[in-house]
Amino acid sequence: MAVERVLSGMRPTGNLHLGHYHGVLKNWVKLQHEHECLFFVADWHALTTHYDTPEVIEESVWEMVIDWLAAGVDPANATIFIQSRVPEHAELHTLLSMITPLSWLERVPTYKDQQEKLASKDLSTYGFLGYPLLQSADILIYKASQVPVGEDQIPHIEFTREIARRFNHIYGREPGFEAKAMAAIKKLGGKRGAFYEEMRTAYQETGDEEALESARAMIDEQQGLSLGDKERLLGYLEGGGKIILPEPDYKLTPASKMPGLDGQKMSKSYNNTISLREAPDVVAKKIKTMPTDPARIRRTDPGDPAKCPVWQLHEVYSDEARQQWVQEGCKTAGIGCIECKTPVIDAVMAELAPIQARAAQYAEDPTLVKNVVAEGCERARKLARETMRDVREVMGLSYS
Ligand code: TRP
Ligand code: SF4
Repeated sequence: MAVERVLSGMRPTGNLHLGHYHGVLKNWVKLQHEHECLFFVADWHALTTHYDTPEVIEESVWEMVIDWLAAGVDPANATIFIQSRVPEHAELHTLLSMITPLSWLERVPTYKDQQEKLASKDLSTYGFLGYPLLQSADILIYKASQVPVGEDQIPHIEFTREIARRFNHIYGREPGFEAKAMAAIKKLGGKRGAFYEEMRTAYQETGDEEALESARAMIDEQQGLSLGDKERLLGYLEGGGKIILPEPDYKLTPASKMPGLDGQKMSKSYNNTISLREAPDVVAKKIKTMPTDPARIRRTDPGDPAKCPVWQLHEVYSDEARQQWVQEGCKTAGIGCIECKTPVIDAVMAELAPIQARAAQYAEDPTLVKNVVAEGCERARKLARETMRDVREVMGLSYS
């Protein structure tokens, strides 16, 4: 089995809340036990939209790392780093920009969408147009195979795949590529060589994706093969050149069911969040003042959980029995709304308590957090440097 390398980033633009926890962070915590993981603070990406409020970024970076750690992202299992502390990302971004058609960037859907959504900001900048390409550099520099993202980010991963393909096509055609690929097939040995040829034919003639996958898996397993030969075999398999920058796949983050206080998706822009650092009395107050089914004007009026955002919280936090209790009690006016909200308040507080305790420990000891990040940056940089060596070489920049 090929080793999966998972990479994901988050922009430091404010406090993390329960929506981030249930959507992204719990997923990261799970992934760190299953794969090699790299998680980073995308501070340059934050600057593309917040270039005129840099103080927001500065304040958010360390707080965000603390929230990650408090939520259970473990530096022993994942590499945690800051984008701007691995300047190789910027170098790759510049080099990739040489082969990036302007039209590809202009047609990424988030470009126009975000410009319209954030109309109060002037986003007609070079940096904002290049947002997806910077993201491609983030991903390709680590040869990440899996990128966990939300639905809105899928076009960016697809864009990244196109960039990788174009790069490999232009720069993977080393002199004598075919001959070298043939020699590599010989090195596989008779049986595997024949299998490779068969799978390659199946893929190229009929587009058989399964054949492609089995050949890739076989190549990955070969211990005695050099990295260069593996890249040639992978490239020749698909009919292109040597694969210098592998195409990543996205891994759609299961949509968070965490609703906001008004029943819409929890989001800072809707002003309906419970932050991970929210004080317990504020949590209680926010839930107590949540709107409920408008039909329940008096305590004796029956209601319908389907029309109430509190019910959505019960769906996240309550077991069958308690959900039953809500359904019945609400529809028969057997319980009042405050009574209904109490177990939710308790559940949210119980969830936040250990997170806040850990956050307090890290907040008290800033050197601890800085050390985690310094180590992560060092590890990330080592990987980034290796890729850049190859990229510079094929782009004619490794002359002495
Ligand atoms: N654009 C991503 C977001 O807004 C953040 C991001 C930047 C990212 N670089 C990345 C995510 C690389 C995954 C991989 O959520
Ligand atoms: Fe909502 Fe519960 Fe009140 Fe019904 S009883 S309206 S579900 S808060």
